[in-house]
Amino acid sequence: MSLSGTQRTVILVGAGAMAEGYLRAAQRMGLRVGLVETAARHAELAPRFPCVVDFEPVEGVPARDEAWLPPAMALAGRLAPDAVLGFAEPQVLATAILQHRLGVPGPGLDAAMVSRNKALQRGEFHRAGLPQPGHRHTVRLSDASEWALDRLPVVVKPVALQGSMGVERIDTPEQWQDAVRRRDDEGPLLVECYVEGAEYSVEALVRDGQVLFTNLTRKETTDAPFFVELFHEAGHGAQRPVLRKTADELCRGVVAALGLNTGIAHLEFRARADDDLVIMEVAVRTPGDHILEIISLAHDFDVYEACLRLTLGEQPQLPPADREPIRSAGSLFLGAGRAGVLAALDLTDWAAQEGVVRHAARLAPGATVRPAENSGDRLAYAVLDCPGPTELAALAERLRAIARVEISDDALA
Ligand SMILES: Nc1ncnc2c1ncn2[C@@H]1O[C@H](COP(=O)(O)OP(=O)(O)O)[C@@H](O)[C@H]1O
Ligand SMILES: [Mg+2]
Repeated sequence: MSLSGTQRTVILVGAGAMAEGYLRAAQRMGLRVGLVETAARHAELAPRFPCVVDFEPVEGVPARDEAWLPPAMALAGRLAPDAVLGFAEPQVLATAILQHRLGVPGPGLDAAMVSRNKALQRGEFHRAGLPQPGHRHTVRLSDASEWALDRLPVVVKPVALQGSMGVERIDTPEQWQDAVRRRDDEGPLLVECYVEGAEYSVEALVRDGQVLFTNLTRKETTDAPFFVELFHEAGHGAQRPVLRKTADELCRGVVAALGLNTGIAHLEFRARADDDLVIMEVAVRTPGDHILEIISLAHDFDVYEACLRLTLGEQPQLPPADREPIRSAGSLFLGAGRAGVLAALDLTDWAAQEGVVRHAARLAPGATVRPAENSGDRLAYAVLDCPGPTELAALAERLRAIARVEISDDALA
């Protein structure tokens, strides 16, 4: 427990753009926040969020799990925090280790560990009898050739990356040989049977192993071979009770299989039918692509505050279990139509559209662009809030149509 009177202290391990909701909630809740981040990110956040009372810089390579534990430990030594909250994938392990050492709520070291490795997930979900693609875990891609060539199309993916990095669909024996040429020395890979179906995620809030709240998010991705997410619709499923029920059951099965204790479960799956779902992967951290913000809009409560309260060991205020989402909210991403150099990106027409909560460019003129092969290739985003799914879909279509994007060939010549 903190020694600083009644004011409680939370260590936030990592605070990218989508963590600002945690800081806003912490500010409102009167919490003291110790931040583990880069010095540059801390310098941006500290003046805007006076709740940030202490800071320790991340060490080494911020994209690596290893970079976050030493500074998080140092900060915990100074602050004796009441809670520790991790932000994104590279912070999951350091956070879980620290939570374990301090004896404060979190997903649990085992759930965190399993979530960080897609091959560990496959092993645990198989043990639990949960539906997932047939798969092979291989150190060299060529060792899986016979298995894969019998099962085309297949998907090849790294075990511990995100944002569709390194995920590709292989349709033909020629493509397989090409992938082996390119990727045989890459290190451990998963090879999976390709599952045809629409893509969704469930976001669950979990306390002491009990699922307290779920949201269903519908996704639109680019086509094969890369499947980059371009649209998320939170609060989906008002007309699809079977899908929602099956998704909730799958989510509870995954939470149980992970032994997830307290925090967020972000479960991605494909639906072959509304009652036939296949797990893609699970994460135990803040989902990307502004999903917590659109869930907050769709269900009319602050999911960030709920997460903070869970990590503090409290029961958060949640919508009644049987209440339908009150709005349809979405996050839209703009992809490049072709490869080249971004000459101009003008989103001023987006601002005038009703239902656009906010928007921003992700890439600046001069950037080399291409039709999205991973999340980093997306040009711009907007957060949308509409009365229902029809209005949301229409707004997303309108925004795609009115964005002014110019791509030139210059640097390709
Ligand atoms: N076995 C599979 N069958 C069909 N699509 C898949 C499969 N594996 C991955 N994908 C597609 O690729 C996307 C990214 O794969 P995923 O395992 O979620 O990795 P990442 O960590 O990069 O998000 C998925 O959301 C899905 O669209
Ligand atoms: Mg994924």
